[in-house]
Amino acid sequence: MKSNSLPSTMAAEETAFTTPEELNEKFNHVIRRRSFLQGLGVATASGALLPAAGLLTAKQGHASELEHHGPLSRGDAAILRFLAAAELIESDLWTQYNELGGVNGGNPAYIAALENLDGDMPQYISDNTDDELSHAAFLNAYLKSKGAQPVNLDAFRTLPSSQATGAKQIGRLTNLLNLDVDLSWYTRYRSEENPDFGAKFKGPFTISNQPAVPLNDTDTPPNTPQPAPPITPQSRRMQAIANTAGFHFAYIEQGGASLYTNMALKVSDLEVLRIVVSIGGVEVDHFGLWHDKAGNAVASPLAGLIDPVTGLTFPDLNAPPTELTQTNLILPEPCDFLKGEKLPPCSVIRPSLTENAGAVATIKSFIADLLFAGQSTAFFEFIMELAVEADAARRDL
Ligand SMILES: [Fe+2]
Repeated sequence: MKSNSLPSTMAAEETAFTTPEELNEKFNHVIRRRSFLQGLGVATASGALLPAAGLLTAKQGHASELEHHGPLSRGDAAILRFLAAAELIESDLWTQYNELGGVNGGNPAYIAALENLDGDMPQYISDNTDDELSHAAFLNAYLKSKGAQPVNLDAFRTLPSSQATGAKQIGRLTNLLNLDVDLSWYTRYRSEENPDFGAKFKGPFTISNQPAVPLNDTDTPPNTPQPAPPITPQSRRMQAIANTAGFHFAYIEQGGASLYTNMALKVSDLEVLRIVVSIGGVEVDHFGLWHDKAGNAVASPLAGLIDPVTGLTFPDLNAPPTELTQTNLILPEPCDFLKGEKLPPCSVIRPSLTENAGAVATIKSFIADLLFAGQSTAFFEFIMELAVEADAARRDL
């Protein structure tokens, strides 16, 4: 099966924004419209969904140090609404992985290939899925409890499912059938430099236009044995798909780690801050786990695998081991952090500034990942509006 015979909904021309320039123009349009409406004293589309009391300042909402009583500030509501959307997006993609490769997953060959990365992979996939579902449900319930509008993305569940054994045939928010997985995080967390000071990173190799779930049973028969390393073309194909998933897991969760760190800096109310840092910590936990497991795809005995369909190659990143490639260097290297002449490097989540880690930056990264390939213009407009509102929130004590 050739990669150009992938489902037609994944075709580039059906993606609403195909170039970084078009994407930037779209975001700038949302920002300009928001500024214009605020100048007129009119709430933006997502602001209009808030109750009138949502426009109160955080100070007015403070009733005690640890508990929040009364309505949310506009900024806090915008942060929680964007995070609820992000969690619904995460839930959608993790649910797809869980159906096929979780502990009760329905595709034996995919599960076996994932287990070649670590025997506990199916359990971890199921638990990560549960975590994201709980985050989305909690954030929406909290918004509701404060009289604010929860986020519902059901109208955008329009993308096709995998056709492979185990996948439910229902509409999806996210595309996992052909991904460009950004691997720059792998190098970034091994480097002493920080993207918040302008450092740029390249991944140790490239994953482009590659499925992260099995596409169908012709491409990857569901009962194919998966030895490590795999021998037959079909088992090598499935292993490349599972390896791609392994790197995609870490990519998604490192994004969550940076996003929550950034959002915490904008929160006003202490209870909302508790929510953001407490969920954010779990995103960091997920990232550390997946960072470790992904390394097994690029270490002996799996390293050197070539996808017989796409040609994607998983190199041996321990041959030779270097500071920027060695697979067991998964704990963050101390890096530049705060500007201060005498401040030493610090091991931190990075990036954490809005430009690199905020809501808009997160959505742009997901678009580049092709996670939303095939989504409608209405979806992009809705998610961009939420992202711009969240990035505009400011800590107000
Ligand atoms: Fe989450």
